[in-house]
Amino acid sequence: MTDVVRYERRGATGVITIDNPPVNALGIPVRKGVFACLDRAEGDADVTALVLIGAGRCFSAGADIREFSRPPEPPTVREVIEKIRDCPKPVIAAIHETALGGGLELALGCDYRIGAPSARVGLPEVKLGLVPGAGGTQRLPRLIGVGPALRVILGGEPVPAAEALALGILDEVVEGNLADGAVAFAERVVAEGRPAHRTRDLEAKPPKAPDAPDVFDRARKGIGRRARGLIAPDLCIESVENALRLPFDEAMRKEREFFVRCRESDQSKAQRHVFFAERQAARIPDVPADTAVISIRRAAVIGCGTMGAGIAITFANAGIPVHVLDVSREALDAGLGLIRKTYAAGVSRGRISEADREARMDLITGTADYAGIRDADIVIEAVFEEMDLKKKVFQTLDRVCKADTILATNTSSLDVNEIAVTTARPEKVMGTHFFSPAHVMRLMENVRGEKTSKETVASVMGLSRRLGKIGVLVGVCDGFVGNRMYHAYTREANFLLEEGALPQQVDKAIYDFGFPMGPFTTGDLAGLDVGWRIRQRRAKTRDPDERYSPIADRICEMGRFGQKTGAGWYRYEKGGRTPIPDPEIEKLIVGVSDELGIQRREIGDREILERCLYALINEGAKILDEGLALRAGDIDVIWIYGYGFPVHRGGPLFHADTVGANVILDAVRRLHGTHGAAFKPAPLLERLAREGRGFHQG
Ligand code: 3HC
Ligand code: NAI
Repeated sequence: MTDVVRYERRGATGVITIDNPPVNALGIPVRKGVFACLDRAEGDADVTALVLIGAGRCFSAGADIREFSRPPEPPTVREVIEKIRDCPKPVIAAIHETALGGGLELALGCDYRIGAPSARVGLPEVKLGLVPGAGGTQRLPRLIGVGPALRVILGGEPVPAAEALALGILDEVVEGNLADGAVAFAERVVAEGRPAHRTRDLEAKPPKAPDAPDVFDRARKGIGRRARGLIAPDLCIESVENALRLPFDEAMRKEREFFVRCRESDQSKAQRHVFFAERQAARIPDVPADTAVISIRRAAVIGCGTMGAGIAITFANAGIPVHVLDVSREALDAGLGLIRKTYAAGVSRGRISEADREARMDLITGTADYAGIRDADIVIEAVFEEMDLKKKVFQTLDRVCKADTILATNTSSLDVNEIAVTTARPEKVMGTHFFSPAHVMRLMENVRGEKTSKETVASVMGLSRRLGKIGVLVGVCDGFVGNRMYHAYTREANFLLEEGALPQQVDKAIYDFGFPMGPFTTGDLAGLDVGWRIRQRRAKTRDPDERYSPIADRICEMGRFGQKTGAGWYRYEKGGRTPIPDPEIEKLIVGVSDELGIQRREIGDREILERCLYALINEGAKILDEGLALRAGDIDVIWIYGYGFPVHRGGPLFHADTVGANVILDAVRRLHGTHGAAFKPAPLLERLAREGRGFHQG
């Protein structure tokens, strides 16, 4: 009926097929097409039932997210669902792979839903800062009860076929050809004379144990910390609550109102930006999608400490066999012990099954001998952060590994080019900068050296995806993109201490902005000694005229390295992880202010936020101008997935656009006057302010 929706007859069943690659998003042509097919089927006297099915990769990924920034054009998804409701013939949705958001809502509007074993259904709108907008908050509670519906809507995760069947979202799971199964199902419905089965006509099912009686209060508490400052989760709960207390049509009107409020919010705009930025990051302009890649069947990790262990787990979790090598049998045993402990924690928290743990452990082999890793397709080095040591390891790897093995380093600050040229294959050398804990954090900063080949870049970017990570390509500079910006941010946080703030105040302002924790709590968690060592190494090259805060060094000199030593910026109860403000640190900070002749003053949260965030943004602008990141969105993705920048603020450069380049430039100029070189305005920021543009426009 349109290019993207087909109608055909199979016996007395009309089959409507959505064929809108890649994911059958419900854009205008699809909605018009389904609408027209329903019209045609209604008028076709020989048709007794209808099947709605998706061609290609999935049933449907829901509304076309790109359309949300334009005025809606009829028919809306809701209007298509109303058309299904008014159809006098039973309509059966046949789902394979994903039915998400509006895709599932469309299926919920049908009389019956059958799924292939591959089906996964869900309402992920909350992850885009939205409330389901086409009846999801009304039909799902009617179908499966408010408790399970809240879990599906607030979690946003897809529910696999077997669970969807048990919950009652699917009526049947069909093996074999789905279209054939759906037509057979439709014929049975007609033959048995089953009545229309409209979800809207069902009573919303009140909570049952274990959800009763305070399901909504518990849902609100449950999302608590995670949903701090977010609009959508609360509105999702309220909308599901409406399913119990309001008539269907009124509750639907409310749902629409909530959806529009969310859609127009900066939060949802930020989350939609992140959705697309994440996907865009995979595209490298000079490395076409069809670039030849090395197939990675086996991997190896050198150094099985904190990072090496996490990286090995990441490979095993993705089903890729991995050898781990450490300097001695004892070090290796300690590393393997760390891996076992991590998996044991996963089992005891119910995250993985005992069988999965065993299967994954079977993929990890310890070795103290380089001969064991000769055939690896990629080796990731994660030994101590020392240039000479890394060079030595790379020379050994170059000698023992097969000619096409990719040699990658997990260095967080060293020059990848310098490492690469110590080998005879610099084109196969790259940085793969994982974040701690490596098996949890989704970011991989993939560092492209001067000589890295396109094939190596494409192979490593592809590997990131296979590992379930988000790979972002960056260039070589001190700290790469993320840590270079992080340095600017924490440096400013330290200056704030010298001027009158305390760690707990800075941390609270940053936490309230939406980060999971502030810079000082983060420092204590990560360990303060690492940064101390890096600062000592850089001391010789530091510009003596540049402002430098000695507070962090003084804390390390006291042997306070953070949580692992029971004290850092904060103190900790024995074995505890809760940061407790420490009068000793306050004394140290006040002492430093005195020493530097700084008159301490009251510093407000607004100043804390502006200075920390603008330092971050200004550095990000320099990085972008220097071509070390490909696009502003890449920097946003790095900060969201590597440093916990609040997703509803879209990343530092998206946030900058909501503030305005001119406002930030004014502040940066002021700070440049008081703090010197660190706040030299980035030329890009000056250009944007002059041209009235944002990082993401033009
Ligand atoms: N709208 C527009 N484009 C979409 C889309 C959508 N709903 N879902 C995916 N795409 C695009 C992606 O941007 C990507 O485009 P690109 O190739 O140009 O980069 C392409 O489709 C393929 O997507 P992925 O790379 O993500 O493919 P995967 O196979 O890894 O994942 C997926 C497929 C699980 C469907 C994933 O794309 C996804 O989660 N999509 C979003 C689902 C979603 O959030 N749906 C709710 C939308 S809001 C809604 O329905 C409102 C309603 O309540 C009214
Ligand atoms: P770690 O100290 O926990 O582990 C290093 C491991 O390397 C130890 O097991 C050690 O025995 C082993 N090792 C040392 N010399 C070796 C050699 N010659 N051959 C084989 N193994 C050897 O260190 P961590 O924290 O895991 O860091 C490793 C690398 O990852 C460093 O380059 C670091 O900068 C980087 N990194 C660290 C992050 C973190 O948060 N810890 C985050 C991102 C990167």
